[in-house]
Amino acid sequence: MRMNILISGASTGLGRGLALEYAARGRNLALCARRLELLEALRADIGRRFPGVRVAVRALDVNDHERVFTVFRELDAELGGLDRVIVNAGVGRGAPVGTGRFDANLVTVRTNFVAALAQCEAALELFRARQAGHLVTICSVAAIRGLPRYQTVYAATKAGLASLTEGIRADLWRTPIRVSAVFPGYIESEISSGASKRMFLVDTATGCRALRRAIDRERPRAFVPRWPWAPIAFLMRHVPLGLLVRAL
Ligand SMILES: NC(=O)c1ccc[n+]([C@@H]2O[C@H](COP(=O)([O-])OP(=O)(O)OC[C@H]3O[C@@H](n4cnc5c(N)ncnc54)[C@H](OP(=O)(O)O)[C@@H]3O)[C@@H](O)[C@H]2O)c1
Repeated sequence: MRMNILISGASTGLGRGLALEYAARGRNLALCARRLELLEALRADIGRRFPGVRVAVRALDVNDHERVFTVFRELDAELGGLDRVIVNAGVGRGAPVGTGRFDANLVTVRTNFVAALAQCEAALELFRARQAGHLVTICSVAAIRGLPRYQTVYAATKAGLASLTEGIRADLWRTPIRVSAVFPGYIESEISSGASKRMFLVDTATGCRALRRAIDRERPRAFVPRWPWAPIAFLMRHVPLGLLVRAL
């Protein structure tokens, strides 16, 4: 039973939905994001609906790497030891490479990959010290292939994060520390708000229920929701690139 769970990017979307899922199951939560007022509102909501659940919150910009380490240590101490860390904070910004938006692509790389590395480092310092814990990274089905247009850099960061997660798992192979990469399909959130016409988009509550179940199984990799995303991921991996581009 993972009682004390840290979720980054918990102010909206998947992070917020996962916090509610775990609060409903009596787990204690450590929540961080830049918008502290949203975290405070979420804490108040959880306090009303699930009394007895402990919720610690911190304002955190994951691109402030030193603060990532400080906040993770503080939250670990405040809850009496983190059992699971969910590296969820991410951005969906980005533009085709070479179209003058290096700034947006750089923010995507820094937030989705470099800052995710900082969070993995901070989490594993805690987990290695006590030889226990479950590290979860929120990747994306976009990690499966190189993708065109605004998704090019986003997909690359998620592929990098998936590879990083597998490498960490390989490194911790003979230890009790568990490591999982989760690959969501389209789930309603601020990131996917411009994509409401996307096929197979599920609402936040449905998506987060499926995410929570997948995380709790603690498998190395999981596509969420499994149907239809596991078969779609298989197809994405194997179709010729031209066909994939036409389908997107
Ligand atoms: N929704 C989908 O369909 C989908 C599919 C595949 C993967 N994902 C992944 O799921 C994760 C969550 O995304 P979402 O869909 O829930 O989108 P979202 O509603 O936009 O949530 C993103 C979260 O990340 C936080 N965040 C962004 N930049 C941050 C920073 N510099 N420091 C700290 N927190 C930061 C945001 O909080 P603040 O702005 O308050 O800091 C927010 O809580 C992302 O990693 C995304 O790539 C989503």
